[in-house]
Amino acid sequence: MFTAESNPTEVCMSMGTLQVRVARKAVEAVDVCSFDLIDIGGKPLPPFSAGSHIDVHLPNGLTRQYSLCNAPFESGLYRIGVLKDAATRGGSKAMHEQVNEGDVLTISAPKNHFPLAHQAKSSVLLAGGIGVTPILCMAERLAVAGEPFEMHYCTRSRDRTAFYQRIEHSPFVSRVQFHFDDGPPEQKLDIHAVLDKPQPGVHVYVCGPKGFMDAVLSTARAAGWPEGQLHYEFFAAEPVARRTDASFEVRLASSGQVIYVPMDSTVVQALAEAGVYVPTSCEQGVCGTCVVRVLEGEPDHRDLYLTPAERAANDQFTPCCSRAKSARLVLDL
Ligand code: FES
Repeated sequence: MFTAESNPTEVCMSMGTLQVRVARKAVEAVDVCSFDLIDIGGKPLPPFSAGSHIDVHLPNGLTRQYSLCNAPFESGLYRIGVLKDAATRGGSKAMHEQVNEGDVLTISAPKNHFPLAHQAKSSVLLAGGIGVTPILCMAERLAVAGEPFEMHYCTRSRDRTAFYQRIEHSPFVSRVQFHFDDGPPEQKLDIHAVLDKPQPGVHVYVCGPKGFMDAVLSTARAAGWPEGQLHYEFFAAEPVARRTDASFEVRLASSGQVIYVPMDSTVVQALAEAGVYVPTSCEQGVCGTCVVRVLEGEPDHRDLYLTPAERAANDQFTPCCSRAKSARLVLDL
């Protein structure tokens, strides 16, 4: 039993969350703020690896995922960068307008669905806009480890380039190329030149808006890069509900229970109605938290998390957003 004397951080850690204080909020570029989060008791925070993100529970009740962008060896703080997105559903607006220095936030411990590959010969890091956050963390890690890499950072303009000064003053600035949409043609990113030929042992990492990522990944795949050397993390998904969505059933392999999924419910919602809880985080098909094995039936994949090969195998899906092409799915639940 926890008492009033218990350290609140320990209490929350027992539930898988942490309480942190906003030690610093800073404008990093037009519409981009960074937030430095520290333990409310001044203790070191749990360690994290490059590519990690945290769930942030916002004052308006929403939960959002933000990549950690400080160097992984900085144990005293988590730094996140947040773009105030015009198409926001309320998450980034709340961070910009309602969260201030001194505020206490509840967050998850770091999770990593976008890790650096071990024993890469070298790395190509590609960031579009606010997708720079995990990429910058990777650059810090690779630089400290003395591992070779190059980084390309594409933004609309210099004044929308978050962490520009930090990169300019970093020890790895010589490995970074900035590409501004409003700059001269010769400085624009030539994806074909960068990903010209697949190189054994070279790993490619990309994060940014969907159009940017699609361009990078389709170029890499067309050039013959093996899927295992491509690493990516989408940070926002398009709405995936379609007018043609139909109802279907899921059967739980463990109990045989059959649950009806109406056309306007997700599988996660239908399962929850039946008292079956699947852990979720992004609820947009980007984080992979909810992935469930599919034993029978054909999923209708709507996520941005699984690789093309994983989708084609049809033996797992993301029930937060994906549906079924067959009348029934049998799930390993
Ligand atoms: Fe993130 Fe389903 S909860 S992919």
